[in-house]
Amino acid sequence: MNPSGRRILVTSALPYANGHIHLGHLVEYIQTDVFVRFQKLRGHRAIYLCADDTHGTAIMIRARQEGRSERELVAAMREAHLADFGGFQIAFDHYGSTDSDANRRLCGEVWKALRSKGLVTSRDVKQLFDPVAGVFLADRFVRGGCPKCHAADQYGDSCEACGAAYTPADLVDPKSTLSGAVPEVRSAEHLFVTIESMHEFLARWTRESDALDPRIANYLAGHFLGEPLRDWDVSRPAPYFGFEIPDATGHYWYVWFDAPIGYLAATSEWCEAHGESFDAWWRPAAGGPRPEIHHFIGKDITYFHTLFWPAMLEAAGLALPTKVRVHGFLTVNGAKMSKSRGTFLLARTWLDHLDPSMLRYYYAAKLSGGIDDIDLDLDEFLQKVNADLVGKVVNLASRTARWLEATGLSAGYPDDGGLFARAAADGDAIAEAFEDCDFARAMRLVMAAADRANAYVDSEQPWKLAKAGPDAAARLQDVASVAMNLFRQIAVYLTPVLPTLAEQVGQLVGGPIRSWDESKRPLAGVPVGRFTPLLKRVEKTQIDAMLAASREEAGKQQHTPQEGGPMTTPPTPPSPQPSADSGEALSAEPLATQCTIDDFTKIDLRVARILAAEEVPEAKKLLKLTVSLGGDATRTVFAGIKGFHDPAALVGRLVVVVANLAPRQMKFGLSEGMVVAASGAGASGVYLLSPDSGALPGMRLH
Ligand code: MSP
Ligand code: ZN
Repeated sequence: MNPSGRRILVTSALPYANGHIHLGHLVEYIQTDVFVRFQKLRGHRAIYLCADDTHGTAIMIRARQEGRSERELVAAMREAHLADFGGFQIAFDHYGSTDSDANRRLCGEVWKALRSKGLVTSRDVKQLFDPVAGVFLADRFVRGGCPKCHAADQYGDSCEACGAAYTPADLVDPKSTLSGAVPEVRSAEHLFVTIESMHEFLARWTRESDALDPRIANYLAGHFLGEPLRDWDVSRPAPYFGFEIPDATGHYWYVWFDAPIGYLAATSEWCEAHGESFDAWWRPAAGGPRPEIHHFIGKDITYFHTLFWPAMLEAAGLALPTKVRVHGFLTVNGAKMSKSRGTFLLARTWLDHLDPSMLRYYYAAKLSGGIDDIDLDLDEFLQKVNADLVGKVVNLASRTARWLEATGLSAGYPDDGGLFARAAADGDAIAEAFEDCDFARAMRLVMAAADRANAYVDSEQPWKLAKAGPDAAARLQDVASVAMNLFRQIAVYLTPVLPTLAEQVGQLVGGPIRSWDESKRPLAGVPVGRFTPLLKRVEKTQIDAMLAASREEAGKQQHTPQEGGPMTTPPTPPSPQPSADSGEALSAEPLATQCTIDDFTKIDLRVARILAAEEVPEAKKLLKLTVSLGGDATRTVFAGIKGFHDPAALVGRLVVVVANLAPRQMKFGLSEGMVVAASGAGASGVYLLSPDSGALPGMRLH
């Protein structure tokens, strides 16, 4: 059944232990779980490993706010995570923690390798320190007045009002957002990994290894590998919740150093429990069989998994990933998840109101293996799961099983006009789609088979045969046996997505589904159990109740920001988003006082096309843009987006400008407007706004 003898180690990114699992996370965990279940059903050796990501400032601060130790917080969150994952039938083979002995040991091993290769250096980093909270502050934890234009309440590194760039120490009246205290500048030694020395290796691996989607490889080439790689800051001074670095007292590994090593630690713990060799997975002998390693991640953490992680593995002499599978972000009803709309949906809230199978199926039907975002449109969800799962799949059994309760399946598989054979022949294409993580395609093929099966039942009309008396009994048994076999065949294909349904089908007819190949042979002469409804229709009232509960829950939740890095943290991949729509940005910068429509119309916002973009060498954050408002109308605008946008990549794109802003003389020239961009707590980037395609320069925003 499995001549290839593949061995496949699969991971999902390790969820942070400072927040609950939400539907965004589940895009990843459900996707990975489906992939692993598929591989197992095919008879391959697959293990699904994950762990909680427990270290860092955010957890330290949240624990303090809750008045308990970090380890208590982490232990409680672990219980909650495992309950949520269990509820969605995410079947890890092992679920570890980055705060484990195995992880400490493996961090030490990787560290030693980096040291021995001379890849670790140290230098002083100036950082603001909150003397009340007693912690170093990442830029996002400091706010104050802009040193240039004096706009109040600006971030530690740049002004949203005038675009000026500065360091947190330049702020007027800086305040820590943690305690409100005035921060002090403190200098502390940090340790760095000089990954530039692995530049060539990374350029080759990202291009040639087949581990990455070409879009990701191009993105890395365009944004990082075209210039020297900056040293990676991998330590934090005390106090920090993490592992102290053995040969650097008072220094702790930065959370993003020990987090991916958590994959190794989880493997090590799993191997220990199963009497297997860690090295067989991560240090396979040259020339021998090589296991596969697949990492599933969201696009926001691409950089860590495609540059630093392979560099660390290579330096430590460990196996490189076979595939890094990057997925997009979840939106709900076409927008980012929002607490006020009730669409910041926790896994728990869903489980309180709706069937987890329905979400598994919906996500599967949406995921096509690319990095595009996926939308949970709740109206479409309702319509689709009811139509497909209840109306097509379960319906097959609900309208035929009862005719077989007394007799079982016909002794020989009846003539079905080639239906079973046709769906069996589709098995390879369906398997290929699963293998490529194009679950959407797999689901389309399966639903097409369900449509054909239903058409068969419609045309054979077993309910009429049932009324026709004993003469038609044999025919009735045959028709119902065909329908039942087609139903079970579909259930085999759906097993990775809908394990509960598969189990129920097994109880109804034919016993547990254990192998993909059960889709190849029809059953005959076996008993059929009593049919009980396998999946209930989703009702609109359930969805409404869930949204209402979610809104209420959101009002109660407190949120600690996630740890972004300080200056050394790289920009995130294309259209990044914070790990959740946390409300963090909004609460860090409360809404301005109310304005009238007249106030708004005073500001003339226009669509503009960027004609030229160049760096202003003397300014750390500024790009000089020439934009067109259509016709001959052009403007020169200085925008505080340097470092976030490659000037060359900006030329040609549409943006939004404040077109009637009074011109301002700046050190580098006259600025004749302002390009609108978003920034705020939750992500360190500056995000330009783009109109939908079709918009033209000069159009006004109303
Ligand atoms: N702790 C890090 C990962 C360390 S891996 C060595 C982390 N944790 S997270 O909890 O923020 O996210 C876990 C995974 O869920 C990431 O792959 C992330 O991209 C994914 N998602 C989080 N929010 C998401 C959406 N809204 N939509 C889709 N995936 C999302 O990052
Ligand atoms: Zn300013």
